Amino acid sequence: METKRVTIDAQKPEYEWIQEGAKLIREGKLVALPTETVYGLGANAIDAEACQEIFRVKGRPQDNPLIAHISDLDMAKKLTGHWTPQAALCAEQFWPGPLTLVLEKTDLVPDVVSGGLGTVGIRMPNHPVALQLIQEAGVPIAAPSANLSGKPSPTKGSHVWKDLKGKIPLILDAGACSVGVESTVLDLTGEVPIILRPGGVTKEQLEEVLGEVAIDHPSEQQAPKAPGMKYRHYAPKGDLTLLIGERAKVIRKMVEEIRKGQSRLKKVGILCTLESAAGLHYQLPDLLYVLGSENNPAEVAGNLYEGLRLCDEQGMDIILAEGVSDKGLGFAIMNRLIKASGQKVLRV
Ligand code: TXA
Ligand code: MG
Repeated sequence: METKRVTIDAQKPEYEWIQEGAKLIREGKLVALPTETVYGLGANAIDAEACQEIFRVKGRPQDNPLIAHISDLDMAKKLTGHWTPQAALCAEQFWPGPLTLVLEKTDLVPDVVSGGLGTVGIRMPNHPVALQLIQEAGVPIAAPSANLSGKPSPTKGSHVWKDLKGKIPLILDAGACSVGVESTVLDLTGEVPIILRPGGVTKEQLEEVLGEVAIDHPSEQQAPKAPGMKYRHYAPKGDLTLLIGERAKVIRKMVEEIRKGQSRLKKVGILCTLESAAGLHYQLPDLLYVLGSENNPAEVAGNLYEGLRLCDEQGMDIILAEGVSDKGLGFAIMNRLIKASGQKVLRV
């Protein structure tokens, strides 16, 4: 299949491309679209066959449900029979934005979208292209991140191109996503809201609006409530270790590992903060990728997936990533880094 990749203005999307994308969605085809978090691989959310195609193209496990993206509250209310006061509060405070609400689903939502669960994840994205595309299509758009399953999520059109060219008809390329990590997935089906996946809206922000908010900590015995969280996501090909500790010790460990790796002719990549990068100048890795300042978690989030992808593209065998504070947005960043490492965390 030939994939058309068009440049579209993120703020004032060209109507021509919105129309073309919406037509494809209505015909049951797939369109990659930008959102403020990461790029999505979109299909008509109420067309089971179209959504099935998402799983095929991504190589996604069938039990992993899709998020339905909506452009207005009426659309949301058609997907759930339980538009609760908590849902209304969240929508008012955080939509459009990086928050997905898990609510009981109506029959309108095909089983393939809910992964066989009785619930549906709903989100209003904060991106003019996504919103206008949904509106023009006139249907909710189911969209997982537009990467091949297991790869880091795409935060640029070029990432989507790399993963999906030849597999889908259209990529709407609006440049880099502003948030850079996926939405927070919040389960509102119980009494106490539960964060199933940390993301762009922080626990602290949710608590201000909802009061008590819990976090789903899956154990060996109990599977995570968001099926997607059990898979090793966000993984680069190289062997990634996450380093946590005092800066001087982290740098010392990095220097040691760079030396050791390079002496065995391995390529060593480093993902670290601006503050730590300076400490590596006397022992350069094969790739030094600065995620951003430790004082600017939004910057770190925005660069994270690009950094992981670069490690792959440049063939890093060994990757060392520096941990950041897990407060606020840092909680989502650390969640992704821990997953990317396959739980290989080293405290120094
Ligand atoms: O920011 C985002 O959320 C991006 C953009 C494109 O909107 N989308 C995204 O989708 O990250 P995906 O499919 O890569 O991740 C969705 C996560 C998965 O972990 C999935 O298991 C969970 O949300 N999820 C979706 N619907 C659910 C439901 N009904 N119950 C529990 N978890 C659900
Ligand atoms: Mg994903």
